[in-house]
Amino acid sequence: NGKTYTLSNGQTIPAVGFGTFASEGSVGETYNAVTVALKTGYRHLDCAWYYLNEGEVGDAVRDFLKENPSVKRSDIYITTKVWNHLHRPEDVQWAINDSLKRLKLEYVDLYLVHWPIASEKDTAEEPHPLLGADGKYVILKDLTENHEPTWRAMEELYNKGQAKAIGVSNWTIPQLKDMEKYAKVQPHVNQIEIHPFLPNNELVDYCFSKGIMPQAYSPLGSQNQVPTTGEKVSENKTLNEIATKGGNSLAQVLIAWGLRRGYVVLPKSSNPARIVSNFKSIELSDEDFEAVNKVAEGRHFRFVNMKDTFGYDVWPEESAKNLSV
Ligand code: A2P
Repeated sequence: NGKTYTLSNGQTIPAVGFGTFASEGSVGETYNAVTVALKTGYRHLDCAWYYLNEGEVGDAVRDFLKENPSVKRSDIYITTKVWNHLHRPEDVQWAINDSLKRLKLEYVDLYLVHWPIASEKDTAEEPHPLLGADGKYVILKDLTENHEPTWRAMEELYNKGQAKAIGVSNWTIPQLKDMEKYAKVQPHVNQIEIHPFLPNNELVDYCFSKGIMPQAYSPLGSQNQVPTTGEKVSENKTLNEIATKGGNSLAQVLIAWGLRRGYVVLPKSSNPARIVSNFKSIELSDEDFEAVNKVAEGRHFRFVNMKDTFGYDVWPEESAKNLSV
């Protein structure tokens, strides 16, 4: 699946990216998965400090390039993200240096602010998030309510060429509107949860209208998480019928649906056969596309609950929209 898009700064981005968030987290799992992905033909890797496996991704990229001299570093699009505890401007610089070191790269193609939430770090030489007595993140209110200082630091990395594009993740429309006021470089990307139970039409349309490329994480419906009510995306009868009828996997249908909607899709898997089959492009007929849209209609079920995850809700207006499936 060699489809690409062009970002607002002219940069080419492969439409399908390989997610490296390792659910098992065992040593070697990421290395093996990324190696299979690169051999399959994926040329876009989605990473993050938070996944704690940038070292393994870097090893896999280095070894793959060594064994395949016809592929250049510039042929692979690599994204990583700054975690919540490193939002202070000087920490953003530290964070990208640290990620580049682990990835063994001179630059990343895209650097994202992972969440619109800033939290305190611990005092270790390689800092981790500081957790309070309640086990939750210690929130930095000023930098959570005003992202301008963090974004200034992101712009500096961009201007220096350490990141060839910059963007945000999990930003809502009000947060993007706020950014428009102070950003000298508008975000090139907004990476958000999108699948048929969270089509996010309004946010996707808003991003397109501003030249911001949406990227879909959990495009398969976050299959390792069980919704509190109702069925999983993978259990939906209509979606499964569409897949079976065409002789395709449900994952292939969900990826094709996202591509047809015009944004980047980031499937992840640590199973070699599924890594391969997810990369095989299929044609979604008009009828099937409309049928998936119909399943998605009116749904707004998010798997991540801000209050539970961070102890602080950065998007109360977004959380209020959460409907049961
Ligand atoms: P696995 O690694 O065993 O393949 P999401 O990105 O929506 O959160 O979904 C990721 C989950 O979907 C992973 O747990 C992954 O498990 C699973 N997955 C990935 N590809 C497929 C597929 N083709 N069929 C079924 N499950 C898949």
